[in-house]
Amino acid sequence: MPAKVLESNASKAKALWAERQAVVSTGSAAYTSVVIAKAKNAKVWDVDGKEYIDFAGGIGAVNVGHCHPKVVAAIKDQAEKLLHTSFHVAAYEPHIKLCRKLIQATPGSFGKKALLFNSGSEAIENAVKFARAFTKRRAVISFDNAFHGRTLLCLTLNSRYKPLKQHFGPFASDIYHARFPNPYRPPRGVRPEDVSDYALEELDRLFLNEVAPEDVAALVVEPVQGEGGFVVPPRGFLRALKKICESHGILFVADEVQTGFGRTAKMFAIEHEGVVPDLLVTAKSLGAGMPLSAVVGRAEVLDAAPAGAVGGTYGGNPVSCAAALAVFDIFKEEKILDAAEKVGGIVKDRFDRWAREIAVVGDSRGLGAMRAVELVADKKTKKPLPVPLVKSIVKACEEKGLLLLKAGAYDNVLRTLMPLTIAPEDLDKGLEIMEDVLASARA
Ligand SMILES: Cc1ncc(COP(=O)(O)O)c(C=O)c1O
Repeated sequence: MPAKVLESNASKAKALWAERQAVVSTGSAAYTSVVIAKAKNAKVWDVDGKEYIDFAGGIGAVNVGHCHPKVVAAIKDQAEKLLHTSFHVAAYEPHIKLCRKLIQATPGSFGKKALLFNSGSEAIENAVKFARAFTKRRAVISFDNAFHGRTLLCLTLNSRYKPLKQHFGPFASDIYHARFPNPYRPPRGVRPEDVSDYALEELDRLFLNEVAPEDVAALVVEPVQGEGGFVVPPRGFLRALKKICESHGILFVADEVQTGFGRTAKMFAIEHEGVVPDLLVTAKSLGAGMPLSAVVGRAEVLDAAPAGAVGGTYGGNPVSCAAALAVFDIFKEEKILDAAEKVGGIVKDRFDRWAREIAVVGDSRGLGAMRAVELVADKKTKKPLPVPLVKSIVKACEEKGLLLLKAGAYDNVLRTLMPLTIAPEDLDKGLEIMEDVLASARA
């Protein structure tokens, strides 16, 4: 950026922000106005030296913390040796080793294989390709309130229209949206305890009226909806879906991009239900900040695509793979799943209390350390807190030194994706900031 812009402004962050506005597409989300210089574990510092506690965790990508020394060392070491050949041109050990690790870490004792990509969206696209190649079927089912990414097929799988889909069509064909059970917001006339049954009945209706099950290649589902506002389906729903898939030869694809790598206090959220997916998609915290994603699952499905039909220039590059191998070591050495349980318990206690005591907190929910509060204007009617108010709450947290993300169909859910390695005092301080801001919020 021009040096004089920096010199003429007391705040480097403000100058950089202005330059961002000038040169970066405004289509790219700006969840905060922070300009970051460095980060360590659950703390980040902006270019003026202001410190923040990070409850956003790179949108759930740094479950082992920012710049974990082992990850940094692995990256440095690998960068000295090999940056890139493309795995399709010349194979390399970290990639092969990582596929083995992923096969061992994912549910299912059958023969498995893996393929590595760069982003969650890319891996979801490829999971659908594998499923279609294997089943020779065309249709795919996803859910309302789902989020699977921003490429065209993923946009089609998503259900939120504005701002994600509007003006970006025409979309991919043969995608059908089923109901996802949300106990906090049941359809009119349906009791919260019946939302699963209702969703399953609606799936029957979809099979009768919109697509025959024998034409469906895959059902793609987030075990806990992420961008949709941390919606946890009632126990048994995912198991029921898996049974339906099995009875029709539909492949069950678990999108664990946000739920995976310990966020819910299991390596993968689907394990809470004992469901074994045919394909599992992982990304985000797999690479601890490096671009990396994977499809892991039944070997016969991953081998169904003809040689050369899937892949890409960069998928599973050596540096990202080295980072991911370090992540596996850290999980073992630092007992990250236990840490997630602990962090989740602390956050749950606080959020549950807020739901009882704070006027704008309508619901507290989550699984493990994937926890959220849904903000409402009225606890009885559950009318969502208007977006400008939610934004002002997030902004007030930012000003007090806490980075926080919202989510949900109404943009009224505050979600927590802090590193699972967060120091207890930082967790407490971050929660204090949230509590202060929420307690003084008025609908
Ligand atoms: C559940 C889920 N699937 C897929 C994606 C897309 O991943 P990426 O942004 O890496 O393409 C996301 C991103 O937030 C996600 O939360």
